[in-house]
Amino acid sequence: MFSKSPGPIGIFDSGYGGLTILHGIRQQLPEYDYLYLGDNARAPYGPRSFDVVYEFTRQAVRFLFERGCQLVILGCNTASAKALRSIQQKDLPQWDADRRVLGIIRPTAEIIGSLTKSRHVGILATEGTIKSESYNLEIKKLHPDIEVTGVACPFWVPLVEYNEADSPGADYFVKKNLDQLMRIDPQIDAIILGCTHYPLLMPKILKYIHPGIRVIPQGEYVASALTDYLHRHTDLEARCSKGGTAHYLTTENADTFRQQAQLFLHEPVEAEKIILG
Ligand code: DGL
Repeated sequence: MFSKSPGPIGIFDSGYGGLTILHGIRQQLPEYDYLYLGDNARAPYGPRSFDVVYEFTRQAVRFLFERGCQLVILGCNTASAKALRSIQQKDLPQWDADRRVLGIIRPTAEIIGSLTKSRHVGILATEGTIKSESYNLEIKKLHPDIEVTGVACPFWVPLVEYNEADSPGADYFVKKNLDQLMRIDPQIDAIILGCTHYPLLMPKILKYIHPGIRVIPQGEYVASALTDYLHRHTDLEARCSKGGTAHYLTTENADTFRQQAQLFLHEPVEAEKIILG
């Protein structure tokens, strides 16, 4: 149904957050072509139901396949938690069993074992990701001795999406959720930022967290996991085109995307508006 010729690596997010993943990946794997898709018109996904996140993510992955991607990374924890498995099990075999869709929770869960000494880990994420329990399940599978505590931060994504990450409002919400997490488990020594938007709030997070606690954004670890994956899957690797380019698609206004994306990438980008559904 889809073409077999080499295409860009697709990166999908509900909005801008996946740009932190794209940035991390491009630093380690600059030689590939990338096609980013932000479903900005329908973000945030965090409070949406399982069925809706699955349907929206499915549409986005299909679109990226139609644009020639052989491999798509869900650069969104909410989509990884709620849609990845269904897409891998139900849709891929029907669409094209040779293509791949990967999530970002597993690589983060893998690395956490080496980043905590106290074996008490905190997860900050959207309501959808926390409720799905995906982090708890993945971490427990790999590191049964680690105690996992998750707190949903429903205001953090809107703060980032609406360019309020540096505002006093951000101070209030960041401190509130960090205090909440540390009150539940004061032994936590490593916190996973389990939402790809959250690295944009890093200056505020570091302001309110004890300096001994490690705060872990995902970009670097997802990039290392992808590097390793491509080494192990040479067939698929050969179907990822190598021109060093990045293109951006959004379901919202292209000019707005262009301006906002600069906050994440620190470089000008062009964007194309598309329609999903
Ligand atoms: N960036 C997405 C994540 O990693 C969530 C943002 C949203 O709620 O849409 O979970």
